[in-house]
Amino acid sequence: MLQVRHLCKRYGAEPVFSQVDLDVSPGEFVAIVGESGVGKSTLLNCLAGLDTVSEGTVRVLDTPITQLDDQSQALFRRRHLGFVFQAFHVLPHLDVAQNVALPLMLLGEPDLARVQAALEAVGLSELGARLPQQLSGGQLQRVAIARALIHRPALILADEPTGNLDPETAEKIMTALVDQTRAHGAACVMVTHSQSAAGRADRVMRLTRDGLHHVR
Ligand SMILES: Nc1ncnc2c1ncn2[C@@H]1O[C@H](COP(=O)(O)OP(=O)(O)OP(=O)(O)O)[C@@H](O)[C@H]1O
Ligand SMILES: [Mg+2]
Repeated sequence: MLQVRHLCKRYGAEPVFSQVDLDVSPGEFVAIVGESGVGKSTLLNCLAGLDTVSEGTVRVLDTPITQLDDQSQALFRRRHLGFVFQAFHVLPHLDVAQNVALPLMLLGEPDLARVQAALEAVGLSELGARLPQQLSGGQLQRVAIARALIHRPALILADEPTGNLDPETAEKIMTALVDQTRAHGAACVMVTHSQSAAGRADRVMRLTRDGLHHVR
């Protein structure tokens, strides 16, 4: 599903990380941990083609996204990738259901029944008509998870998805993310500082300057 080979990211001559190799299978949930500033968010952005790499290749579904032009990358992302960010990134003027429906609208494939099912799956079936400002942090993050999965992407990328939440809410969010990822047979790469969030992953890797190292 995801194949990363000898990935290296530099700013000028200064390397952030190098020699990053990673393979993730369909249905597999991988957590990446590491010190602040080591390049975890940069790595996720490189996996998505949202940031340029200095060396190496990223393949998703056998497509070498590091070699596609910007427009092909954007179309590939739209179809095959889902994102969950720490800061939610919901659109404030759209209601909850419209936010979740957005990836389907961009693909020209609206599907109200699927949106309703996605809201139900994360426990928000009653809140579709609310605006984001009328939701709690934990509810917003569940909107973000429903939106990341609505178009059934092959790969989910999550950057500290529980970073803003209390432990109890974080636990619920992780359950929603793990369950939904598995239900869709997607692969998930999650960056986290939280030990309990990492504990939910099938595999944990630590990012350092000289690559990804197996933790468990
Ligand atoms: N445009 C840039 N030019 C130079 N260095 C940069 C630039 N953008 C980011 N960096 C550096 O790249 C490194 C990696 O940043 P990144 O945000 O990926 O870290 P992180 O591991 O996600 O940290 P955190 O855990 O705090 O979120 C940092 O040391 C940062 O200072
Ligand atoms: Mg980060």
